[in-house]
Amino acid sequence: MEEYLDKKLEQYGNSDYYPFHMPGHKRRNLPFPNPYKIDITEIEGFDNLHHSNDILAEAQKRAAKLYGSKKTYYLVNGSTCGILSAISAAVKKGDRILIARNSHQSVYHAAYLNALFMVYLNPTVAFQGIQGSIHPEDVDAALKEYPDIKAVVITSPTYDGIVSDIAEIGNIVHKKGIPLIVDEAHGAHFGFSEYFPQTSVRLGADVVIQSLHKQFPCFTQTALLHLNSDLIKEKEIEKYLRIYETSSPSYILMASMEQCIRFVGEKKEQLFSEYEKKLDNFYQCAEKLHNIKILQEQDFSEKEIFGKDPSKLIISVKNTNICSRDLYESLLSKYHLQMEMESGFYVLGMTSIMDEDNGFLRLFNALEDIDKCLFYKKDINTANLIKEIYRLKKKEMEFFTAMDKDTVCVSFEEAVGKISGTTVFLYPPGIPVLLPGEVISKDFIINLRECIKLGQNLCGIADIINEKIDVIRF
Ligand SMILES: Cc1ncc(COP(=O)(O)O)c(C=O)c1O
Repeated sequence: MEEYLDKKLEQYGNSDYYPFHMPGHKRRNLPFPNPYKIDITEIEGFDNLHHSNDILAEAQKRAAKLYGSKKTYYLVNGSTCGILSAISAAVKKGDRILIARNSHQSVYHAAYLNALFMVYLNPTVAFQGIQGSIHPEDVDAALKEYPDIKAVVITSPTYDGIVSDIAEIGNIVHKKGIPLIVDEAHGAHFGFSEYFPQTSVRLGADVVIQSLHKQFPCFTQTALLHLNSDLIKEKEIEKYLRIYETSSPSYILMASMEQCIRFVGEKKEQLFSEYEKKLDNFYQCAEKLHNIKILQEQDFSEKEIFGKDPSKLIISVKNTNICSRDLYESLLSKYHLQMEMESGFYVLGMTSIMDEDNGFLRLFNALEDIDKCLFYKKDINTANLIKEIYRLKKKEMEFFTAMDKDTVCVSFEEAVGKISGTTVFLYPPGIPVLLPGEVISKDFIINLRECIKLGQNLCGIADIINEKIDVIRF
């Protein structure tokens, strides 16, 4: 029988599957107009997002006030278009840029489009192979080694909720008179309560990009770009938003943003105090588990992480007889709990101010049930493998040059010593382990095979089963 997306979604929306994933509205109804009644174009009286001076300008001012930024832009193409625009506005074509290696693909795409020479900051690989924070001293060292760097881009928080010391990194970057761009796509809920980390907007970053749809009750694709200094010009940001953002911004999405900002602004004390109680209660209950462990800030060393967002539930099955895939599948099939992702030895649950007591209770009951059947089994040291696979590769060609080269698909053996023509990344979290232009070493192939054997979800390899990968054709 033929399946239709709209019908399938409607059916799913009415099912008992509980979302521990984005979007942050958690499929709960907020009072919202019928989408057909409000889906318009730039008609009289409704302003134009790309040249706003009326109702949309006011809406964006309200968002700026809520977050304390100098100027805020609504984005309807997700954080992706904000990151592309911010980087493009901060540099000139052919400049050098300092980026965290664990950047989202949009950062790499901006580097490609602007032919940027990239210098990398490596996050520490923390407990269980989770990517840790970026150290301020590494930023300082890189800026000293490459005095021509024109901008710095950091992801904080990461997909797993790990934050870096943005205030200190900002001080270092600003001594050079260049801007700090923070990808805070996963941190739109920061800065409203001390329970969560502070937002980079208030920590001195020049541009901060946040996805509203990830953590807040807002439709998918909604995001904000906060411009907070004069180091990047408004005119430049606006020029690139016109390039990277649709010329037909959806009024449904913009209405959702307006509603979300108003909802959070008016109810933040109540919303966050209830949210904190639910999270505290969940973490407390989880201490009763014997084999499964929910990782918290105190489980990492200060060297590994600067801080952690408690809204991200890192559910670890390390040193048990199951792997994260088993836990993920069991939660889904038996308990109808859809998690955000599984990676190596943990499953990630995304929570938001919209989560209900019942959702947390269902998750805890399911974990308690599963936990009873587990036993201790020492794991191989995957943290080391992850560290090795992420180790920086020798760069033979700039990313932007390599991206435009013809490639040829060869066996893993033949690929050794050749230049990669593909981006290989572990998904989630989507961080590259190999980029076009980097040399494929024998060790890399050994580690790649090990990751495949462990069932890690590797993307960007032409044929995993027959061990084929794209290299640059000479
Ligand atoms: C760290 C990070 N930055 C940026 C993005 C892009 O956000 P969006 O999907 O809103 O375009 C994502 C998406 O998952 C992300 O994880």
